[in-house]
Amino acid sequence: MTLNFSQSVTGAVVEGVLVVTIDNPPVNAASADMRQGLFASIDHASTDAGILGIVVTGAGKTFVGGADIREFGKPMADPILPAVIERIESSEKPVIAAINGAALGGGLEVALGCHHRIASPSAKIALPEVKLGIVPGAGGTQRLPRLAGVVAAAELAATGRMVAAQEALGLGIVDAVANGDLVAQAIGAARDLAGKPPRRTGALDVPPFEAEAFSAMTRKVLSRARGQHAPAEALRLVRSAAEKSLSDGLADERETFLRLRDSDQAKALRHVFFAERAATKIDALEGVAPRSVTRVGIVGLGLMGCGIAVAALDGGYHVTGVDMSEAAAQKGRERITALLDRNVASGRLDAEGRDERLSRLTTSHDMAALADADLVIEAVFDDLAVKADLFTKLDGIVRADAILATNTSYLDPDTLAAATTHPERVVGLHFFSPANIMRLVEVVNCAKTAPDVLATGLAVARKLGKLPVVTGVTEGFIGNSIFSAYRREAEFLLEDGALPEEIDAAMEAYGFAMGPFAVFDFAGLEIAWARRKRQAATRDPAERYVEIADRLCEAGRFGQKAGRGWYAYPDGRRTVDPEVTALIEEARTRKNIKPRAIDDGEIVSRLLGAMAAEGEKLLAQKVAQRASDIDLVMINGYGFPAHRGGPMFAAGLV
Ligand code: 3HC
Repeated sequence: MTLNFSQSVTGAVVEGVLVVTIDNPPVNAASADMRQGLFASIDHASTDAGILGIVVTGAGKTFVGGADIREFGKPMADPILPAVIERIESSEKPVIAAINGAALGGGLEVALGCHHRIASPSAKIALPEVKLGIVPGAGGTQRLPRLAGVVAAAELAATGRMVAAQEALGLGIVDAVANGDLVAQAIGAARDLAGKPPRRTGALDVPPFEAEAFSAMTRKVLSRARGQHAPAEALRLVRSAAEKSLSDGLADERETFLRLRDSDQAKALRHVFFAERAATKIDALEGVAPRSVTRVGIVGLGLMGCGIAVAALDGGYHVTGVDMSEAAAQKGRERITALLDRNVASGRLDAEGRDERLSRLTTSHDMAALADADLVIEAVFDDLAVKADLFTKLDGIVRADAILATNTSYLDPDTLAAATTHPERVVGLHFFSPANIMRLVEVVNCAKTAPDVLATGLAVARKLGKLPVVTGVTEGFIGNSIFSAYRREAEFLLEDGALPEEIDAAMEAYGFAMGPFAVFDFAGLEIAWARRKRQAATRDPAERYVEIADRLCEAGRFGQKAGRGWYAYPDGRRTVDPEVTALIEEARTRKNIKPRAIDDGEIVSRLLGAMAAEGEKLLAQKVAQRASDIDLVMINGYGFPAHRGGPMFAAGLV
């Protein structure tokens, strides 16, 4: 007989154990209905003398995906999650969490409130709240250290890192990993524990820990937090579990959770969360099925091509890499192997995984090797004639239904499409370097791209674990268009009176990992220089144009790799160079500009304003589909701080 505790929580008694199933698609979030049902299920078990214990599990592939993020910002209906977990923990009958899939945030907190936890081998646990600008709000920071110790718990709560079942077992967070039927095993555990005093997590002592280990971990975590408030609060709360009573710790945690939930950073990060889910939803692709892709060809095995190859191997594809000569192809294979080896050295991959990936890789100097590819991505030198010629050749080699993708960052993909007999099968896949690491891929919807080709571009990018954002065709697509506006405004600021180091410091204080001039140096100045030279003939003479970057390039100051750019790099360290200061002053004098003091506030607002204004242009031209897509591009490709929500969000344009 099925017991309905609420719309999303049902129960069935099996061998004297009440098996409670949470079924609240898509991710079994702890909505008001779920909380009410779960509470009622424990009440029911406590009053039914025939029930020995309780098993809590989730329907589908998730245990519980956390609090319902959609409820944030609205009044919270009773019972709140901490009360539900308190009800579970105080149960006299044993409550077993059968963790069938992801137990995230409030989901892990529910499991921590149970008296025993069994995970399926594929289950994953995390406290990802910091990624939403908040801290756990239902006991995570107080109960987790009682099981895993302060150092491990603090690291998890402050980073949101996802932990697989085996690691969770090693850390003491789960008591067993199922080897067979998870729920049957949990029912067995409930029967074994029936009648014995429940092991309540909240009643356990926090194990002693080494202050030095905690400090070392804290330093590492905070060095990456860059102005975000939540990680430091999570560290503080977990550490305080060792000093406070459970109830005091829980009260502090809840107060902090509520305060952060309403903060600007949390609002920005919630915007990013929903923006990521919206990005792949394209109205025109409703009901369009992507083409099947199993074999990916890559032409050009330089840094970019090899990065893409590794991403494609990681995504499970068979990869054929082609370069101009046998020696270049061999060098490509070595580079790909080295990238995989690096992942083995860092523990991200095991040797078996590397060998399996390499078994799916073929390299060749013969383009005919691409004849059976479903998708070919070109990553050759960014020159229109070279790429157009390549596309014409590929057009005669690949099957008529194969897709041709270009990784160009600035060239017009419509011109490349026109070099083929099937322009509808051409799409842009603009990866960011290093392509095996960077999450962003701009998927370029060219004038003639067929809907199922665009859908395939999105599907492949997703399979590579990337965040795809669709862009229309314009020079530089979404990202480089906005980055150009940012660069332009940064150079205006220079002429007006600010120095590179002042501008960088202001943007770094705002949350960028690197200010604009440090980024220019890091990326190298020559590509933008070539672009400016290309545009020189058509540039409106009345338009404000800053020549300082040209002077740097003429002096061979091409950036960090050259040892000199906007800064000097003695021993690799970024250092202010008086020569650059002098160049800037000369440029101002030439234009009769009287420099004035520019404060951080003006620097930040002008640079953000320039990005947002360019973003509005892209929206008006329909190059970008939505403002939130622009935010994602700038956050994931250009270092815009996620906790500021992106340039459009920061400007109040979302
Ligand atoms: N609340 C509300 N909706 C959620 C949600 C949540 N916690 N998690 C996911 N969703 C929604 C998504 O918005 C999406 O909706 P859509 O189809 O309308 O766009 C849908 O569920 C599917 O999500 P994904 O596309 O992300 O599905 P995946 O299968 O790729 O991933 C997941 C599933 C791993 C659960 C992923 O969605 C995820 O990481 N979710 C967020 C988890 C999280 O941050 N939880 C903590 C919440 S805060 C909290 O718990 C506070 C507590 O301490 C009190």
